[in-house]
Amino acid sequence: MKFFIDTANLAQIREAHDLGILDGVTTNPSLMAKEGIKGEAAIMQHYKDICEIVGSGDVSAEVFSTDFKSIIEEGQKLAAIDSNIVVKVPMIKDGIKAIKWFTDNSIRTNCTLVFSAGQAILAAKAGAKYVSPFIGRIDDSNWDGVELIAQIAQIYSVQGFKTEILAASIRSALHIVKCAEVGADVCTCPLDSILGLLKHPLTDIGLAKFLEDAKKM
Ligand code: E4P
Repeated sequence: MKFFIDTANLAQIREAHDLGILDGVTTNPSLMAKEGIKGEAAIMQHYKDICEIVGSGDVSAEVFSTDFKSIIEEGQKLAAIDSNIVVKVPMIKDGIKAIKWFTDNSIRTNCTLVFSAGQAILAAKAGAKYVSPFIGRIDDSNWDGVELIAQIAQIYSVQGFKTEILAASIRSALHIVKCAEVGADVCTCPLDSILGLLKHPLTDIGLAKFLEDAKKM
């Protein structure tokens, strides 16, 4: 399973990249706004900075447009920034049309705001490189986000779809483990959830004892 970090914060991207386990980055308009990125020039520069940090990893950059023509124009501009940019397109009618157009024109896409297996089938039919089910937001609505990942994994396997399942809206280290278990191809996570995977109280207790005994050596 690939690990992406879900942030537009350059310091956090650097920290995750320095761990040596980072395969890419996902952003969205909320995450970009949180970093105070405003205006086309600043947006383009920020994506360039992210691409520079992650090297060969995929970087999802989301369009703001919602009509076919504007999504295509905006997506082409984003894709021209760097060969690692993946154009993130919302799961709407014009979004699906645009994903098919991008696929036919060799531009990779990430279909975002996916909350059902039916939407995931459409994204795969249109040729999306990634489909992003938002599991944390599903859990917030009293449904089971991990169950949706499992269902999509089963459908894609039976149907032979090549679209990669990118589990998004991750809230915890446990979410990452569960997504790995049911067949997510990628997890995009906040830095805290990635670092949460390191934690186990028996590791801390064991290390303290080893360090204490090391003094007797
Ligand atoms: C990533 O692609 C999504 O935009 C992101 O994971 C959404 O996460 P949230 O539900 O925590 O905003």
